[in-house]
Amino acid sequence: MTLPPPRADVALMEGYHSPRLDVKVRLNVNEAPEGPPVAFLEALEQEVQRSGLNRYPDRSATALREAIAAHHGVRREEVFCANGSNEVLQSLLLAFGGPGRAAAVFSPTYALHSHIAAITGTAVLEAERDEEFLIHAEAIEQVMARGAAMLAESDPKGAFGTRRAVNPVITFCCSPNNPTGRLEPDDRLDAVLTRAPGLVVVDEAYGQFAPRSALERRGEHPELVVVRTFSKTWSLAGLRLGYAVADPSVIEAMERVTLPYHLDTIKQAAGRLALDFAGEMQARVARLVHERGRLSAELTALGCSVVPSDANFILFSPPGDAKAVWSTLVEHSVLVRDVSSWPRLAGYLRVTVGTPEEDDAFLAGLRAAL
Ligand SMILES: Cc1ncc(COP(=O)(O)O)c(C=O)c1O
Repeated sequence: MTLPPPRADVALMEGYHSPRLDVKVRLNVNEAPEGPPVAFLEALEQEVQRSGLNRYPDRSATALREAIAAHHGVRREEVFCANGSNEVLQSLLLAFGGPGRAAAVFSPTYALHSHIAAITGTAVLEAERDEEFLIHAEAIEQVMARGAAMLAESDPKGAFGTRRAVNPVITFCCSPNNPTGRLEPDDRLDAVLTRAPGLVVVDEAYGQFAPRSALERRGEHPELVVVRTFSKTWSLAGLRLGYAVADPSVIEAMERVTLPYHLDTIKQAAGRLALDFAGEMQARVARLVHERGRLSAELTALGCSVVPSDANFILFSPPGDAKAVWSTLVEHSVLVRDVSSWPRLAGYLRVTVGTPEEDDAFLAGLRAAL
């Protein structure tokens, strides 16, 4: 029997992979350097023992959503949870994207925004960031022009009648942006919010490391969706939990495309219990922000060009060949992310801020490389 081929567009797709090497110091995927607090793990263990895993989980994740809502001072109806913020993004694209619709991205940015859009059959309209890696004022007009061009190409005779453009139904604004670390200034975000025709999704996977959040703007902008994760600040990348804060109508649409019982009982309990440790996690964020300052200063002193960061990582360009520097770091058992082959990022590497000891090991490797 001949097995059926996958969807034609899926056959052309490349998977998203970040290389995993066996090294002592892993500073390549922006994880938290420490595990979650021991008291959290103990509380979770007790909760698991009480939870009755023979039963399906609470399908609406009520207690977890209430806890997240209380954490942000919003209502439960404004919170959607999923298995990592990647699944939150997928749910948004399943509900609002799809064939005949488009999403806008400003590159260089988090590759999964385009990748998940493609998986869901959503067209991607791309505009480049300015030379400081910020979203420039005309970026929305540029993506809308791309949408119009795309429609002209696919519909040369105007069979869609009066529809003159494919406008983005979702505009992704990653802030602080991965891989640049830059927080979008208020006036740039305002320009996106006032000009974008559909939902504006601010991906705040690194929001806690920045001085302000788009969450503060939701009152004036019902089209604003803020996406967050437990993977970074909360030290729970292995747990897979993320959420969106948005208008209840957006949340309801996302729930419609979600599989029943997609959030297991343990994860729901873990997310809820983690929020009890907000104070401790904030102290850890403060330590990482301090360490980020030290690392930036050391990188600059070593002759690297450093992009200012509001996240838990730093994009930098070492003097000389970035790929050779990356390889020497691996020889010193330090793994950073080589982004030098990404468009606009020739010569750049990205390093996650680790513990002071991990960062010292990175700096020692870097000195050897230079
Ligand atoms: C900007 C951004 N959004 C989302 C994610 C995915 O996070 P999660 O682990 O919650 O799926 C990442 C992961 O690195 C990220 O950098």
